[in-house]
Amino acid sequence: MFQLTRSITWQALRRLQADTANDRIADYFAADPQRFDTMSLRVGGLFLDYSKHHISRAVLDKLLELADHSALVQRRAQMFSGDIINVTEDRPVLHTALRNLGEGPLWVDGQDVMPEIHRSREQLRRFSEAVRSGEWKGHDGQRIKDVVNIGIGGSDLGPNMACRALLKYRHPELNFHFVSNVDGAHIQKVLSRLDPATTLFIVSTKTFSTQETLLNAKTARRWFLEHAGPDADVGAHFVAASTNRQAAMEFGIREENVFEFWAWVGGRYSMWSSIGLPIALAVGFDGFLEMLQGAYEMDQHFLTAPNEANMPVLMALIGIWYINFQGAETQAIVPYDQALHQLPAFLQQLDMESNGKSVDIFGRPVDYKTGPIVWGQTGSNGQHAFFQLLHQGTRYVPIDFIASLKPEPGMEDHHFALLTNMLAQANAFMEGSQKGGELDPYSCPGNRPSSTLLLDELTPKNLGALIALYEHKVFVQGVIWNINSFDQWGVQLGKRIAGEISSRLDAHSQDFDASTQGLLKLVREHFPA
Ligand code: F6P
Repeated sequence: MFQLTRSITWQALRRLQADTANDRIADYFAADPQRFDTMSLRVGGLFLDYSKHHISRAVLDKLLELADHSALVQRRAQMFSGDIINVTEDRPVLHTALRNLGEGPLWVDGQDVMPEIHRSREQLRRFSEAVRSGEWKGHDGQRIKDVVNIGIGGSDLGPNMACRALLKYRHPELNFHFVSNVDGAHIQKVLSRLDPATTLFIVSTKTFSTQETLLNAKTARRWFLEHAGPDADVGAHFVAASTNRQAAMEFGIREENVFEFWAWVGGRYSMWSSIGLPIALAVGFDGFLEMLQGAYEMDQHFLTAPNEANMPVLMALIGIWYINFQGAETQAIVPYDQALHQLPAFLQQLDMESNGKSVDIFGRPVDYKTGPIVWGQTGSNGQHAFFQLLHQGTRYVPIDFIASLKPEPGMEDHHFALLTNMLAQANAFMEGSQKGGELDPYSCPGNRPSSTLLLDELTPKNLGALIALYEHKVFVQGVIWNINSFDQWGVQLGKRIAGEISSRLDAHSQDFDASTQGLLKLVREHFPA
């Protein structure tokens, strides 16, 4: 049986790590004046500079060999063609089909899935245009002014992040709100500002069984009926994005307003499906299509570019170098763009829920590190929060800097300051501050790696390409680690036990450990049976 860590390439990478441990990234530039040109690439409206990495030419070649020797070509083809690659859940993984703008069919289990994808897109188009134009009326004939998405995890983070990122394209008379936390304070705060007659709720839940979402949706419906009147038409104010049509209809949603998608769309990969309804409402269906177009073009690049010029593959290999050979535990995501402030949270779920695994696709424990801890926040704020540790702390943290080049009219001075701050930081992380060649004990050691990812402009299309880029990066890493990036049994366990504990609030709780029993007793005092 193939063992990754015993492979010749893996062993060679280990040796290269030892051989290059004392290299300085800055010296790579001195030795190779072409380094920036050869270690950067453009795909559509995205430009990646990966030259500021602790990666020599020999290391890069070996990493590329690792990709060549992996099952990447085969598994990528399987994913795009609808083969069952989510083996533990016995499902294909077809978020790429949702943004497939090509002509041909896509056969899954003997059925072409493209007609139903087109049907679903058409349903989104009609509905989003009706709401945006004011043709869609609430129960007393008023047009919609506020849209509340109720969902959690993948049914929240993607549309939430995208609606914020694309705020400047938003319909001027529609406001968007996202309720995810089961903490009642979240929905209470949102509802307190709304008029039920002009509010549309989207219950976004793949399964229509997630406790947090159902509780929030019921609270929203109760609030609606209390304020709009007991006979007010729930169906005019509640729609759903779900694979569970029956449960959505039982909730009171009209059949034609259940926006369908399919089991083969993973939650964290679902913003391209009807889960993206808030995006279509915010930026219009054409804007939503542009986002799909950007992702589709990134898909085509991922499918066709050779590994050495393949942006997602390169980003995946760089990550693997730090995680598996340089001992990095985390990956920082620092967008120098306020509109992308939700991006770190989105990527956190995408990466950590996908690759937070310790068994391979055959269920055998792996003897190497897999997905990193992904975290971050916007620059320049981060500079005044956690950058100190990154500059001078004992941890080794590769950073992805992300920014868009085009300034907002009238804000050129801000944008220039934003971008120059980012470049200054990336430079400082690499070069540090050495005096006369000697390291001052209080100076910054430098030699800290980063990628810089520039968008020409933060448009729906470039956002789509950016998200698809990270999706494929995560996929490639999962393939090389030979893990299933598309299940989440740990999360399911938490969901199950939460259900069991809440059903036992007024019953005996001997089934739980002593700590849980003790804490449950304290909780119960506030919730008498
Ligand atoms: O976080 C785990 C998860 O299963 C995600 O994959 C999903 O996006 C989220 O829960 C919410 O699930 P649902 O969309 O079914 O409510």
